[in-house]
Amino acid sequence: MQSFLSSSLFPPAAAKLVASVSVAAGTGARNSGGAVIAVVPRRSAAGGGGRCVAYASSSSPAVNTAEAGVVVPATMKAWAYDDYGDASVLRLDEAVAVPAVGEDQVLVRVAAAALNPVDSKRRAGKFKATDSPLPTVPGYDVAGVVVKIGSKVKSIKEGDEVYGNINEKALEGPKQSGSLAEYTAVEEKLLALKPKNLDFAQAAGLPLAIETAHEGLERAGFSAGKSILVLGGAGGVGSLAIQLAKHVFGASKVAATASTPKLELLKSLGADVAIDYTKENFDEQPEKYDVVFDAVGQGEKAVKVVKEGGSVVVLTGAVTPPGFRFVVTSDGSVLQKLNPYLESGKVKPLVDTKGPFAFSQTVEAFSYLETGRATGKVIISPIP
Ligand SMILES: NC(=O)c1ccc[n+]([C@@H]2O[C@H](COP(=O)([O-])OP(=O)(O)OC[C@H]3O[C@@H](n4cnc5c(N)ncnc54)[C@H](OP(=O)(O)O)[C@@H]3O)[C@@H](O)[C@H]2O)c1
Repeated sequence: MQSFLSSSLFPPAAAKLVASVSVAAGTGARNSGGAVIAVVPRRSAAGGGGRCVAYASSSSPAVNTAEAGVVVPATMKAWAYDDYGDASVLRLDEAVAVPAVGEDQVLVRVAAAALNPVDSKRRAGKFKATDSPLPTVPGYDVAGVVVKIGSKVKSIKEGDEVYGNINEKALEGPKQSGSLAEYTAVEEKLLALKPKNLDFAQAAGLPLAIETAHEGLERAGFSAGKSILVLGGAGGVGSLAIQLAKHVFGASKVAATASTPKLELLKSLGADVAIDYTKENFDEQPEKYDVVFDAVGQGEKAVKVVKEGGSVVVLTGAVTPPGFRFVVTSDGSVLQKLNPYLESGKVKPLVDTKGPFAFSQTVEAFSYLETGRATGKVIISPIP
């Protein structure tokens, strides 16, 4: 039991609370102790002989949160994996324990989640050295409703509609209990109120991508009057890098690359020049840019089209000087700062039209993301 709990989705503190839950199943009785916990290990039918996530017994209690009167169950449906690998390692688990809520966290009832390439790379084991222990419920991006708050939470209350990227550092110990689940626990500082004009599916696609675009532009010293070339302009990050550069930072000129069918889209996002990478080599053109924002992994070519003294932001692949790479930091205040641009419609979420995918189709959604052809964000909604 001890070894199970220590490798489960719960931190040791949560495991301690197991014993404190005594309400009966389905009563909706209140647990004044706060966190909603019940952990009795058993194997998932789908899990075969693999390691367990953190299962509650079938007689696990449901608990009301005091203020909102919302019943938070002890267990939830979540996608999980026990081993690194391709999308086939994902399994839908019907009885994963709802995560405990830390004092600086809130519990979000997930309405929609979005997939990011980092979910795939993490699942493939690329970040094994700094990942949290398996098993993992994946998912960084979330939009949903707050159903419980930690004792030190100040600015968010139960019932608030929020969105955010739940992992402050994308690669350093990302949470074991992610957003591809009915509930996820998130630090208050990583969330913002959902823009009022957006639905949950639209909002879920924004956090990690828009934070990356914003952080990349800031780190590159991008500012009004400068020019930029965005490589991969139709992707989750690129589509937002174009919009932020043009409509928030005040770019003098935005160029972007994509394949033929996506060129009009680039223009609608704010690109002045849309380059068809299937027909022309951007690095053979005479034009040079103050900033090149590489969301494809073309660092070597990217540095050829930057002005002297300019910056080349590289999100993936090899870095060629003067290019630099960074890993996004999640920050709710960035989302809050950008909310007026989203609410005015100056910056728009781009949701891939193959989706939103139903929760039950999460494996298909991952397979689609992994084609590298998604246009904007791959969304999972509704959840469950
Ligand atoms: N360092 C960080 O903190 C950080 C943060 C976020 C993302 N990333 C990384 O950045 C990359 C992009 O992320 P994302 O979420 O934007 O991915 P994505 O949404 O999956 O990108 C898909 C898009 O890439 C375009 N694309 C593919 N090859 C292209 C090429 N040669 N030239 C131009 N466009 C091309 C595709 O358009 P076509 O169909 O027209 O080819 C498609 O629309 C990923 O590798 C991701 O892991 C890093």
